[in-house]
Amino acid sequence: MKIIAPSVLSADFGHLAQDLEMINRSKADWLHIDVMDGTFVPNISFGFPLMEPMRKYCKKPLDVHLMIVHPEKYVERFCDAGAWSVGFHLEAVTDPMPVLDLIKAKGVRTCLTINPDIDVKRLVPYLDKVDMVLLMSVFAGFGGQKFIPETMDKIRFIREEIDYRGLNTLIEIDGGVNTQNAAELFAAGADALVAGSAVFNAPDPEEAIRKMKGQP
Ligand code: DX5
Ligand code: ZN
Repeated sequence: MKIIAPSVLSADFGHLAQDLEMINRSKADWLHIDVMDGTFVPNISFGFPLMEPMRKYCKKPLDVHLMIVHPEKYVERFCDAGAWSVGFHLEAVTDPMPVLDLIKAKGVRTCLTINPDIDVKRLVPYLDKVDMVLLMSVFAGFGGQKFIPETMDKIRFIREEIDYRGLNTLIEIDGGVNTQNAAELFAAGADALVAGSAVFNAPDPEEAIRKMKGQP
């Protein structure tokens, strides 16, 4: 699967509807939504007030990435606000299972995420309990950072685990993805790539999305 999920964090919020129309026209598969609370990460992005226009104007599934403490307090509201998938960080909770159950009870897809300094092996016990795992390839908090090359081996490791166990769990990569490294990331076993600045700062964002998907 070669899924591209542009991150709305890099969009122009003064012209959000136009940027979302571009996403609708493009070959993008999902819209990635980065929610930051200023506590789990040293940055604050946006929250519920933007879910409404995104649901209204965006025809692609909304892939919500929560970079917040206490995700258990908010996951249901993001489900109700129209999320297609809700992800939160493993390192933000003591036990992810009750939080996953809240999302599942809403009929929404689940995603468990880790920052680059968290041992990728910690995801293994949950591979059969989530729809997707998201490996951060930069430290969560800001768009426009440089891809951390060590992520490649982590993708291969998780890919092997998933295939060995015959699971359908998707692998998503987030941070520093661009038209140069997308093919290599898919080849290593990623299913979905998040790209913020490489899409929205490109002279032709639709072309950038096509290139990342390996399409002419
Ligand atoms: C970082 C966010 C990413 C970010 C990606 O905390 O989770 O989704 O927007 O931005 P780029 O693609 O510019 O690295
Ligand atoms: Zn993200």
